[in-house]
Parts: sequence; structure tokens; C-alpha cells
Amino acid sequence: MKHYLQFKDLSAEEYAYLFQRADFIKRKFKAVEKYQPFADPDRTLAMIFEKASTRTRVSFEAGMYQMGGSVVHLTTGDSQLGRSEPIEDTARVISRMVDLVMIRTFEQSKIERFAAHSRVPVINGLTNEFHPCQILADLFTWLEYRGRRADGTLDVGALRGITVAWVGDGNNMANTWLQAAQLLGFRLHISTPRGYEVDPAVAGVPRADFWRVFDDPMDACRGADLVTTDVWTSMGYEAENEARKQAFAAWCVTPAMMAQAKPDALFMHCLPAHRGEEVTAEVIDGPQSVVWDEAENRMHVQKALMEYLLLGRL
Ligand code: CP
Ligand code: NVA
Repeated sequence: MKHYLQFKDLSAEEYAYLFQRADFIKRKFKAVEKYQPFADPDRTLAMIFEKASTRTRVSFEAGMYQMGGSVVHLTTGDSQLGRSEPIEDTARVISRMVDLVMIRTFEQSKIERFAAHSRVPVINGLTNEFHPCQILADLFTWLEYRGRRADGTLDVGALRGITVAWVGDGNNMANTWLQAAQLLGFRLHISTPRGYEVDPAVAGVPRADFWRVFDDPMDACRGADLVTTDVWTSMGYEAENEARKQAFAAWCVTPAMMAQAKPDALFMHCLPAHRGEEVTAEVIDGPQSVVWDEAENRMHVQKALMEYLLLGRL
């Protein structure tokens, strides 16, 4: 049994498989062809949300139904989690009744404790430290745009050697990008305000030359194949919002910043976005932005991920 708690829980070779599989599953969806590997026997996904969500909920829930399975949705407020039932007991009980669990919560240690007591695979739907499903979608999106071979298949090797520029907070997304860069062999340029740096110890990556820190976000974007950012204040850090607005003012992705990147560079944002804060409307609504495909692809890659965790390679 495999869990997906961090990006590094799968190998480069498994990612290559998942991207091909997501491509296959997406084609079925676009052709309005039924693809229901979870219909017989019926498989159930439990989704536990301790933080808000639009994309993660809809992509997992719609994806599971499309594959013939069903979904149970719990939040802290409407379950005993909000009344101090231990996470270990919750895991023991829920995992006797469903086939798969997705959790969005605060500390990574909480999802790890759940997984340690779960009889079924557990997927990280975002923690304070990581957001692996999002980077899975982001990389798939990049490959769709820039990594398709002449025969139509996706070439995960096309990621090797590209430069991704991360502009903004040293948060769960940045940590996950670090793991992805190490695993798949691309370079990561990171620019964060002072006091909001990434901590390589959290990501569990070495201080090595595949990633580089820049004081000026303009320098981080120079020559990049992909520029990406995220909200200045992540869920759970709302008390810091005003201080962050001051500190992050120069970390807004503008057309001038995009002009430092390669002419064909893509722009991504995991969403939700705040136009005029971390990105201007010209950039996110402009021709280099692929954020809507990126959001849609959450569903396709997660369908491939759920299939892999439950049924293995098909
Ligand atoms: N990107 C993302 O995870 O979005 P939600 O918070 O809406 O799920
Ligand atoms: N870093 C953001 C991502 C939201 C999808 C957060 O954790 O709130």
C-alpha cells in the first residue's frame, strides 16, 4: 500500500507513468467516453477538509464520480475531529469503511499520523508544508504545453534542465517545487522576501545547485521557462496578512517580471489568486498564463493518482 503525503513519495519513473495515464484519462473525459474503473466493485473516497477548498474538493469529488466511485465529505466542524477525537482513532475508523482518503489539514505531522493508522492509501490535499497534488497538475500542464513528443505522448524527460522561477512565499507550494526539482532534474529559482524564505530542511532537500535563491524576483525570473507564484498569505496564517502585504509588495508578478523570462515562458498559479497582489491582471489573464488548464488538470492527474494507488498499473 502506498500513500501520497509528499511529492517525493513517488519516483521519477512513477511520475512518468502517471503523466501518461492522466493524458489517457483526460482524453476519455474530453471525448465524453465513460471510464469507470471504480464502478464494480464500487470504491469510496473519504475527503477530510480542515481548511477551505474549491478546486481540491471539486476535482476529487467530480473525478471520483466520473470513475464510477463515490465520495464522503467531512470537515472539522461537522465531524468529531472538531470535538477532539484523536486523528489516530479517526484514521482507524474511516479506513475500515472506505478505500481511499484525501486530507487537507494543518501540520504535515497530522496527515502522517493519520496515514500511520490507516488501512487504505492516504493522499495529501494540502498541508502547511506541502501541496503535492498541485505540483503534479502543474508539471502535467507544463508537459502538455512544452513536452509533447511528435507521436503525441508526453516526455517527462523534457522537464530535465528547465528553469522554474518561484516568486513569493516560502510556503507549502515552494517546498513541493523543491522536492519536484530534485526528483525530476530541473532547476528552481526562488525569490522570497526576507523572513519568508524556504527552509530546505522542511522540504528534506540538500543545499545543492539545483536550486538557487535570489534577493530580487526580477533576477529569479531571468531565463525561466516557467514563472509561478501563490497567495502571499496561506490558509492558517491570516493573522499575518497585513505584515505580509507590506513585506511582499515587490513580489508581484508583473509584465516586466515576465519579460525577464524566456519569450515563450508560461505563467502558473495554483489559485485562488489575488489580482494586484501576487500577480497583475495583465499577467494572470494574459497570453502566457495557463492557470485555467492548470486548475482543470487537477482533476485529470488526481484521477490517475487514485487509479494508481487503488489498482496499480493498468
Ligand atoms: N489550488 C487549490 O488547491 O485550490 P483550492 O484551495 O480551491 O482547493
Ligand atoms: N499556499 C496556499 C495554497 C492554496 C491552494 C495555502 O496554503 O493557502
